[in-house]
Amino acid sequence: MATAIKSKAAYTIESAAPPERFARGWHCLGLVSDYKDGKIHGIDIFGTRVIIFQKADGSLAAMDAWCPHMGADLALGKVENDSVVCKFHGWSWGCDGVCNDIPYAKTIPPKARINTWEICEQNKLLFIWNDPEGNGPTEDVAIPRMDQVFSDEWSEWSTVKWNININCRELIDNVADMAHFGPVHGGTGTVYFANIFEKHKATQIMVGTFPNLSEDDFLTTVATYYGPAYQITHMFGQMQGMPVESILMNSHTPVDSNSFELRFGVIVKKFPGMTEEQCNEMVQGYVDATNKAFGEDVEIWHNKVRVDNPLLCDGDGPVIRLRQWYDQFYQDADAVPAKVRERKEMEIDKGVPADVKPAMAHAFEA
Ligand code: FES
Ligand SMILES: [Fe+2]
Repeated sequence: MATAIKSKAAYTIESAAPPERFARGWHCLGLVSDYKDGKIHGIDIFGTRVIIFQKADGSLAAMDAWCPHMGADLALGKVENDSVVCKFHGWSWGCDGVCNDIPYAKTIPPKARINTWEICEQNKLLFIWNDPEGNGPTEDVAIPRMDQVFSDEWSEWSTVKWNININCRELIDNVADMAHFGPVHGGTGTVYFANIFEKHKATQIMVGTFPNLSEDDFLTTVATYYGPAYQITHMFGQMQGMPVESILMNSHTPVDSNSFELRFGVIVKKFPGMTEEQCNEMVQGYVDATNKAFGEDVEIWHNKVRVDNPLLCDGDGPVIRLRQWYDQFYQDADAVPAKVRERKEMEIDKGVPADVKPAMAHAFEA
């Protein structure tokens, strides 16, 4: 029988149990249109289950899925008069979470109330708010509107979803990870890399050569996390002699402490002078290329361990400072040190030409 010999000099990966609480902030649930189909959608999120359903006025509502009567999944029920009627015994729950009918009882128990969730629609996407302290979202963390999403000059969202079996912090590390572009994405040279951490925003700015996404010129990306779980990337490349401008959405929702759902979406600016058909083909080609690039990251996340003490070198980005930024979403709002939210800039310039160097600014704020 083989026995592992452990060298005393070997580095030991430390990996404490992930936090039991879930990040404070807006989390993206994908396309709004997917939820406006008259069905009740059950979602496993934040260690519990939530239902999303449409009201008569067209807007959506969210509340806990587990019926407190005897535990049935309200996603199996039906919507009647903006209420969800449980399939098990017919209790009816209003979208305010209050039970408004029990078909076989004279009195409704005063405790018959379930938790509701704040949601919002922005950029044709649906978001759900989480705060372990029970506070609602403030205006300063609102998801910024992108006019491109509503413009005829841009394609519609093309989205994909993956389930990843690891705590979501490992995904966030990507913001500061300068060294993975070559091995994972076939990048042949990063000439500029910068990070900005400020309040609830964390930005990565990158200029490099990526033949798969920009054949003839540098690829430039400005990617900003707005809060803990929703990242927007403004990307500029060049394919077949044409400049390509695209916007990528990368978001995740924790299912529990050890897994998350990852959503990726792309819109591309249509190419002037092309027929609708040529344009669709070109856009689809670019969507496929970006999907593939994102899938390359997914393969890594799906197959790695959580590392609390990454063994970093001088060519790595500021992973530890990034994690300090990310930790704020797991602390009570009043307990977050002011220092963590102060603006910090890190920049590595390996000779980027001045005319392609992006501004030191968050995505869509330059
Ligand atoms: S479990 Fe829902 S009505 Fe009984
Ligand atoms: Fe990546």
